Amino acid sequence: MQKEAGLLTDYRLQSKESPNLLNCYKRYPVNPIRGEGAYLYDDEGRKYLDFISGIAVTPFGHQHPEIKKAVNEQLDNLWHVSSLFFSSLQEELASKLISATKLDKVFFCNSGTESTEAAIKFARKWGNGRSNIISTLGSFHGRTMGSLSASGQYKIWEGFQPLTPGFSYVPYNDINAVEYSITSDTVAVIVEPIQGESGINVPSENYLSELREICDQNDLLLILDEVQTGLGRTGKMFAYQWEDVKPDIVTIAKGIANGLPLGAVVCSEKVSDAITPGVHGSTFGGNFIAVSAAIKVMELLTDELIQHVQNTGQAIKNSIYSFGFSSIQDIRGKGLMIGILFDKNVNAKEIALQFLNHGVIVGTAGDNVLRLLPPFIITDNEIEIFNETFYSTLKESIGNY
Ligand SMILES: Cc1ncc(COP(=O)(O)O)c(C=O)c1O
Repeated sequence: MQKEAGLLTDYRLQSKESPNLLNCYKRYPVNPIRGEGAYLYDDEGRKYLDFISGIAVTPFGHQHPEIKKAVNEQLDNLWHVSSLFFSSLQEELASKLISATKLDKVFFCNSGTESTEAAIKFARKWGNGRSNIISTLGSFHGRTMGSLSASGQYKIWEGFQPLTPGFSYVPYNDINAVEYSITSDTVAVIVEPIQGESGINVPSENYLSELREICDQNDLLLILDEVQTGLGRTGKMFAYQWEDVKPDIVTIAKGIANGLPLGAVVCSEKVSDAITPGVHGSTFGGNFIAVSAAIKVMELLTDELIQHVQNTGQAIKNSIYSFGFSSIQDIRGKGLMIGILFDKNVNAKEIALQFLNHGVIVGTAGDNVLRLLPPFIITDNEIEIFNETFYSTLKESIGNY
């Protein structure tokens, strides 16, 4: 594997500014041009084991034959007509999402941030005059102004204020703080079942059930942002199913169409009763190409595969623990959403570049969390390659530390 990766001699030298694109991202200095299964190939023929899956967007890896076939068939039939029409294709996907969530109605959009925007609007519409939504510190719900304002992180607000009003923020995993923040204007609580972008923060076991209880007692909606955690990623179809709570609104995006842009909001009947034509919309939402991929994704998400996600995630965590690096302070997350917390002397971004140098792509969250979001289709052999690379790369960059 390492030979195939063909070491970048010095990744820093290879890193270059894009001549044409806005400088919104710090990009890895490789140019992937082909993908197959759990591997990416760059323009110089190097091979990489993909343990970030386009930030949790390609759970079935690259070029999955069945998803590709479904998309190709749809490409040959019809691409887009807008939501002016009844669509049996959208109905088919919606019914799969309804049975997976045990909720009642679906709205399609194109991304995670749009699903947050829709959830905010639906909650306020239902609230009929109440507007305030309680969110959590460290949360990430998207980058458009509503979802940015719903996200409890100063670092992503900076330079964009004033925020959209109507949000208050409480510490994550703090039930009392939620209770204390409720006013007569509060309409909903929005929360990620596991905070992804801010470091794979897993709350205590009953957090969501306790939130559910508080919401019921105060006539509030519980909005769960499953954009990153949803559709099998944590080893359950939805992360809230670890606790068996029933949310009022669930937002979904990322892995739903294995790389094609699609988002969805699934609501309970009481929320959907408040929604009438003209209240919300999206020209591209539920486009047929992405929907055809998503129907196949839902079919492929079998109980066995989701169990494989659970087992594989645990196996990866066990191996990392067994290496005994003292600078690793915690290995957290569920299923194949894993965060490795290093002590603050270790820069996770530097470590991620070292991995890239050795042919394995991982991500980071915050300054000192290494983030693993491998595809669900990874094999034992690929896990072994990852483990070997993990051990040797860390040994090389931080020694036994
Ligand atoms: C939990 C969560 N919500 C919302 C979003 C925003 O999704 P998108 O980038 O598709 O707009 C993300 C993206 O990382 C996310 O992790």
